[in-house]
Amino acid sequence: MAMIEEIKKLLAEVETYNINDQDDLERFRLHYLSKKGAIQELFASFRNVPSSEKKDTGLILNNLKEAASLKYEQFKASLISNDESYSGDLTLPAEPIKPGSRHPVSLIRREIVTIFSKIGFTVAEGPEIEDDWHVFTGLNFPLEHPARDMQDTFFIEKNPDIVLRTHTSSVQVRVMENSKPPVRKIFPGRVFRNEAISARAHCIFHQIEGLYIDTGVSFADLKQTLIFFAREMFGEKTQIRLRPSFFPFTEPSAEVDVSCTICGGSGCNVCKHTGFLEILGCGMVDPNVLEASGIDSDKYTGFAFGMGLERIAMLKYQVNDLRLYFENDIRFINQFKSSY
Ligand code: DAH
Repeated sequence: MAMIEEIKKLLAEVETYNINDQDDLERFRLHYLSKKGAIQELFASFRNVPSSEKKDTGLILNNLKEAASLKYEQFKASLISNDESYSGDLTLPAEPIKPGSRHPVSLIRREIVTIFSKIGFTVAEGPEIEDDWHVFTGLNFPLEHPARDMQDTFFIEKNPDIVLRTHTSSVQVRVMENSKPPVRKIFPGRVFRNEAISARAHCIFHQIEGLYIDTGVSFADLKQTLIFFAREMFGEKTQIRLRPSFFPFTEPSAEVDVSCTICGGSGCNVCKHTGFLEILGCGMVDPNVLEASGIDSDKYTGFAFGMGLERIAMLKYQVNDLRLYFENDIRFINQFKSSY
């Protein structure tokens, strides 16, 4: 008999096959659907079908397979729903699959990268395990500077020259060593400090650093850049305030506050009635830093700034316990939804 006839016969058989219980179902499976069953056998001899008949035969063979599988699944489901010991309700909708959500620190990082990319900053990264030069010496830290102290810095045992970076300013040095001005970059990354963990301090946190070097870069450029950032991040009515400060790698240096994200500046508990919240440190790159990385400080000037991502997340989301950002409790993380 031509194969096609055989298939048609089986198709009719499958359609009228009587299944009443589990045993019938298993018999049906063994006879038609198992590896050694009738349908597999037909697939095995399909290669002997003359090529002129292959198309029609293939089509009907697939129909047969589908019909048998469907019948099997339908009976299987009906046997389960008729089984009185089965207590599930098959008419209930399936459990929804919950999509994940991004970590608040990732959301803030993306937002900041997007804001700075609008004014021409691109992203660069550097290593978390660094040498003394990139973290301290190249950034004009005197040898006796307290930031090098064992209490702040994680040193690698046996080699005090190797440290876990305490700030992303180390990437400034790497970028200056490896590129010629103009440089307009931001550096997001993890940093490490030897601190006891509490609501307000953690031994791991995240920073974003910015660096702009070119001819004629002035403090006014720094200020405008920061106003742009603050208004994009916290709203267009945001005011900024610069307070003189000190960092070894910038001169002059400033700390930057934004008008309180809660009360708008009139005074509340969050801003401790000052109307302002500190968000970052910044300044004009110290000529010593430029020279240490081989950049001519007579020709070029630049500004730098650095901010903590958890700090910005705290201001934006009003979550004031740092530890929550590191515990990865899904009940916490699921509260942050975004379109990213
Ligand atoms: N590296 C500083 C810190 O971790 C932050 C900082 C301050 C970065 C001033 C800068 C800057 O680039 O100009 O506290």
